[in-house]
Amino acid sequence: MKYSTQTGSLDQLSTPCLVTTLKQARRLAYQSGERTLFDAAVRDFKDLPGRTLLVQLSGASRVARLLIAGGADAALEPGPYRKIVDAAARALRAAGVTKAIWALAGCRVAERDLYWRTAAGLTALSNALYVFSEHKAPADDNGRTLPTGVAVHTDERGKATVQRAVREANALKAGLDFARDLGNQPPNVCNPGYLLREARALGRSAGINVTALSEKQMEALGMGAFMSVTRGSETPGYMIIANYAGGRRNDAPIVLVGKGITFDTGGISLKPGAAMDEMKFDMCGAATVLGTLKAAAAAKLPLNVIAMVAAAENMPSGRATRPGDIVRTLSGKTVEILNTDAEGRLVLCDALTYAERYKPSAVIDVATLTGAMITALGSHASGLFANDDTLAEALLEAGEWSGDRAWRMPLWDEYQEALKSNFADIPNIGTPGAGSITAACFLARFAGAFRWAHMDVAGSAFQGGPAKGATGRPVPLLFRYLCAQAGR
Ligand code: BES
Ligand code: MN
Ligand code: ZN
Repeated sequence: MKYSTQTGSLDQLSTPCLVTTLKQARRLAYQSGERTLFDAAVRDFKDLPGRTLLVQLSGASRVARLLIAGGADAALEPGPYRKIVDAAARALRAAGVTKAIWALAGCRVAERDLYWRTAAGLTALSNALYVFSEHKAPADDNGRTLPTGVAVHTDERGKATVQRAVREANALKAGLDFARDLGNQPPNVCNPGYLLREARALGRSAGINVTALSEKQMEALGMGAFMSVTRGSETPGYMIIANYAGGRRNDAPIVLVGKGITFDTGGISLKPGAAMDEMKFDMCGAATVLGTLKAAAAAKLPLNVIAMVAAAENMPSGRATRPGDIVRTLSGKTVEILNTDAEGRLVLCDALTYAERYKPSAVIDVATLTGAMITALGSHASGLFANDDTLAEALLEAGEWSGDRAWRMPLWDEYQEALKSNFADIPNIGTPGAGSITAACFLARFAGAFRWAHMDVAGSAFQGGPAKGATGRPVPLLFRYLCAQAGR
C-alpha cells in the first residue's frame, strides 16, 4: 500500500471511495443528482468526531462511495482531529475498496499546518490498514479487500507540502510495518539469528551497513552482562549494528539501542504461565530501532544514525545464570544478578558501553523493560527517562507532534540508593517500589559518557487482548525526532 498526492477539482475525480466531510459529501452527491439517496442515507447520521458513514452512490456517479468523517467540517483541536482521522481510517479498512481518495487534509485544525494534517491522517491509515496474516489460511482474515493505494487530495497551492508529507508518510509506513512484522512473528521464527538476517536484508535494500558481534566476540570483549542472559539459550545471541550514513562524514551519529529479547521466560527466575506468549514482544525495542532506521533511510534524512540491537533469548537451562551470580560488564562494573527476569538492563548495559566508541551526539535506548511501566502509564504513553533536558524535550515534542506520546519520569539521585549490593558494584534489581525508575537508574550508570534517553515501551509497544499485536511504537516518535533533527 502506497500513498500519493491528488490535485484537481473533486467534482472531476473518479474513485471507488472518497473520504471526506459531510458538507463536501453532500455537495458532491447533490451535484451528481443523488440528492434523495444521500438525504435518506445521512438522515440519522451524527456529525461528530469518531462517527463515520459509508454512502454508496448509484452506478452513474464518478465517486462510487462517499466515506463521511463525522465532525470534520468544524474548527478543530488536534485531539478531536486525530479521533476523526482514526475513525475514518478504520472505516476505510472496513469499506472493502482497492483505492481511495483522502480529502481530510484540508480540515481546519488549531495551530496545525497542512503538513501535520496530512501526516496525522496518513499515520492513522498506516495503523488501521496494517495486517499480519503470514501464518493464517488465506480465507481467514486477509480475504478482505484492503486499499492498495490512497491518494491525498489537495489544491495546487498545497501540492508541494502534501507531496513532502506523502513521501515521509511512505517512509514512516515502511519502518512501522517492518517493526510490527518483526514484533508479531512467533518466537520460534523470530530468534536472534532471524533479527540479524532481517537487519542484513534491510541493509541490502536500503543502503545501510550491517555488522554483528558474535557471542565469541562479545565474550572476548568482556560483555559479561549480555553473555549472562544469552548463555541459557540454545540459539546464539548477537549484538547487531546497523549503520545509516546519510549525514556528512564527521557528523556525530545518533545511536538508537533496542532491547531484542526474542523471548523472555524470565530465565531461572521463571515467569508465571499466564500471557507468557506476549513475551515474544520483548524484542519490540529492537524492532522499532531497526524500523526507525529503515524509515530514516527511506526518507533519505541527512543524518548519521546507528541502530544497535542486543538480541538474545532469555531461557532457563542447566547453563543458565542463577540468582546470585556475579558478572563483569563491559564497563568493568560488576553486577550481582538477583533476578534473572531483570535481563533487559543486562543486555542493554553492555550495548550502552559499546556505544561510547561512536562518540554519539545522543543515545536513545528503547526497551520493553518493566511491567511497572504498564502500572504507571498504561498504554497511552511511553515512559521517557533522560540525563539531558534538551534531548528529553525534543523527544516529548516529537511524541506530541506524531501522536505517539511519551511522558517524562524522574531519574533523581535519590532513586539510585535503591541499587545497592552486598557483593558486587551494583545489583540488577532495586529495592521494592518505582521499578521502572530503578531499572532506568541501572541503565543510567552505564550512560554517563553521552546525552542519553531511555524509553520504556512495555505498555505502548504491543497490545494484549483481542487486538493482540505489536503497535510499532515508538517508531512515529523517533522518526519525527530524526526529521526535526534534520531540519524537516
Ligand atoms: N520484559 C519484561 C518486562 C515486561 C513485562 C514487558 C510485561 C512487557 C510486559 C522484563 O524483562 C521483566 O521481566 N521485568 C521484570 C523486572 C523485575 C524482575 C525487577 C518485571 O517487570 O517484573
Ligand atoms: Mn524479564
Ligand atoms: Zn524482558
